[in-house]
Amino acid sequence: MELVIASNNKGKIREILELLPDAVLLSLEDVGFTDDTPEPWHTFEENALAKASAVYAFCGKNVFADDSGICVNALDGRPGVDSAHFSGTRDDEQNLQHLLRELEGKDDRSAYYKAVICLIWNGEVYYFEGVCNGHIISEKRGGGGFGYDPVFVPDGFSHTFGELSPDVKNSISHRGRAVRKMVEFIKSKEQT
Ligand code: IMP
Repeated sequence: MELVIASNNKGKIREILELLPDAVLLSLEDVGFTDDTPEPWHTFEENALAKASAVYAFCGKNVFADDSGICVNALDGRPGVDSAHFSGTRDDEQNLQHLLRELEGKDDRSAYYKAVICLIWNGEVYYFEGVCNGHIISEKRGGGGFGYDPVFVPDGFSHTFGELSPDVKNSISHRGRAVRKMVEFIKSKEQT
């Protein structure tokens, strides 16, 4: 299976490599794609499609893009698609601190991570979704993962994604769930 990952996010790429050990994954650098694709849309699906289709138009290879974010119930689902620049910067630490400030004084700290993968496979477009429910704690714990992981505790656990091992995170995360659905789909296509 040869696939291009349409992402420059190092945290995402590291997790996807762990989740797809048998695939030949090409980076944007490998295929010579240097543009920064705008993500002006209001849904994960639209942003994932924008990223995947820009790369597909450029190189014509099978490609997938993950658009993901954290949705906080007390904030009406924000930051959602704006997770990567919630504070007005693209800095993970500033975004996390901005989220903690927005949640100050709120009783409901429930949240979920969501990932939508857009796969362009032999010219056809497919989507795979994964969700992971949990809640936001008020102080950072753990140095693993990336983004909001040090303050996100998944349901059924007492540790944050920043404290849990990569294997445990991948087994329950939004991205892990979406990637596994995509792998099952590709395997079924390869058998037909
Ligand atoms: P995207 O590159 O536009 O899809 O933005 C994804 C953003 O969502 C990241 O920059 C993080 O802020 C957040 N995010 C998505 N998935 C995760 C995760 O697994 N852990 C921590 N933050 C995440």
